[in-house]
Amino acid sequence: MKAKILVMDNDKMSLATLKHAFENSGMDLLVRGDAESALCCIRQKHPNVALFDFSISQNCGHEVLKEAKHVDPGLAVIMTTGMGTMQTAIEVMKDGAFDLLSKPFDLLTLKNAVQKALENNLLNKKVRYTRQFTHEQFDMHDDDIMIGSTPDLMEIWKMVGKIADSDASVLITGESGTGKELLARAIYSNSKRSNRQFLAINCAAIPEHLLESELFGHEKGAFTDAHCRRIGKFEQCNGGTIFLDEVGEMSLANQGKLLRAIEMQEFERVGGNESIKVDVRFIAASNRCLHDAVRNNTFRLDLFSRLRVICFHLPPLRERKADIPLLARYFIRRYSAKVGKPINDISSEALEMLLNLQWPGNIRELQNAVNSAVILSSGYVLGPADFAMLISEEAADTVEPAGGGGNYSEMFRRLLEPMFDAICRKNNGKVYEHVNAGFEMALIRMALSKCQHNQVLASKMLGISRNTLRARIDQYKLQDN
Ligand SMILES: Nc1ncnc2c1ncn2[C@@H]1O[C@H](COP(=O)(O)OP(=O)(O)OP(=O)(O)O)[C@@H](O)[C@H]1O
Ligand SMILES: [Mg+2]
Repeated sequence: MKAKILVMDNDKMSLATLKHAFENSGMDLLVRGDAESALCCIRQKHPNVALFDFSISQNCGHEVLKEAKHVDPGLAVIMTTGMGTMQTAIEVMKDGAFDLLSKPFDLLTLKNAVQKALENNLLNKKVRYTRQFTHEQFDMHDDDIMIGSTPDLMEIWKMVGKIADSDASVLITGESGTGKELLARAIYSNSKRSNRQFLAINCAAIPEHLLESELFGHEKGAFTDAHCRRIGKFEQCNGGTIFLDEVGEMSLANQGKLLRAIEMQEFERVGGNESIKVDVRFIAASNRCLHDAVRNNTFRLDLFSRLRVICFHLPPLRERKADIPLLARYFIRRYSAKVGKPINDISSEALEMLLNLQWPGNIRELQNAVNSAVILSSGYVLGPADFAMLISEEAADTVEPAGGGGNYSEMFRRLLEPMFDAICRKNNGKVYEHVNAGFEMALIRMALSKCQHNQVLASKMLGISRNTLRARIDQYKLQDN
């Protein structure tokens, strides 16, 4: 019998790609344009694989998925969407979708996904129908929103959806500022423990001897300052989820105790003999490579293996630059709403400039840069000048000082780069003259302003004679500024 693929979509371009992909594949393509006829098709024709457009009939694709999994739990459903968000990806995977594909389709990815879905269906590995979900509105004031569109991130969110029912330990790795804590919160809030506590502990911020008592608690008299019994975080968080940030910084002794707590769900308070039973889910994060730490004997292999039952790696921002425009616009909306400014976009020159940076501090650094730009800007659209501080900081970090004044050429090169094409277009044949004049004017204006328009002080500061300064003020008509 021929395999059947049900397609619920009415976007012409997507339908054309689908037809092209499966025309001579030996599979039957059943195309339906709305929810009702798609569900009817599932009942009557029993397709093996279904591709549902998420946004069909006012975003009811997700509802159709749930209904379809109800009708035929073994049906392998691939959701398709033109605008992937974290919550979409997590929710559809939680509700039993087999996969989620971004539109416009990449032919190879599409074919592979359908092939895998078909195998899954034929092997009758039934994808489990999980629980109902009420879609919440995207709230700009919600700090816990994770933004992204790159395939890496989409895979991560799909995985969060897949593990929603699991209590397994999770390890999240990634450089500083890549969103490890944000992801930990997303895992927690999409887990079955979401109505219980979430406690975050930064293992690097607490001295070793205090960390032990912080996690496990202590009995009265356990050490000099232990005047009374103290309940630790593990006991406090019974039934909930503990997030151990920078777990790689834990001492070997504490690692041993942690391993036992994870394996046995049991520990003793410092200075106590009584075994305390708990039921805690562990999510750990590290910005250090734990493989190396294991190799250097600073991290226990058994704990490492135990923690990474489920493992996530968040790529640095420089490896997912395609997300920079999306993130920058999201932060603009968020911060301009916070400070009540009507800024609504970023210029293409400024975006290009952001795309050229390396972002060692990752998303946190981008977030801070946009925040400062929003505060400093006086326009409706953020331009390169609003990010000047960021560029000069990065250049100052990378440029070796030369002579007495330092070498600023790299810094100015970066400032000029994004606008250079436009400058050349507007000043054809006079680029050198106009850019130099602009630079000189800006420099003199700033010096005068810094010296409260005292020309003697300004000329001393700039290291030019007072006559030269006067001549430039006349030349550029700066008297009134
Ligand atoms: N994908 C994302 N979308 C929106 N905001 C993000 C995203 N990733 C990170 N952020 C924001 O960037 C900041 C840093 O994220 P987070 O604290 O989760 O990083 P981290 O990896 O835990 O960093 P560190 O290792 O320094 O603790 C937070 O304010 C977070 O809200
Ligand atoms: Mg963190």
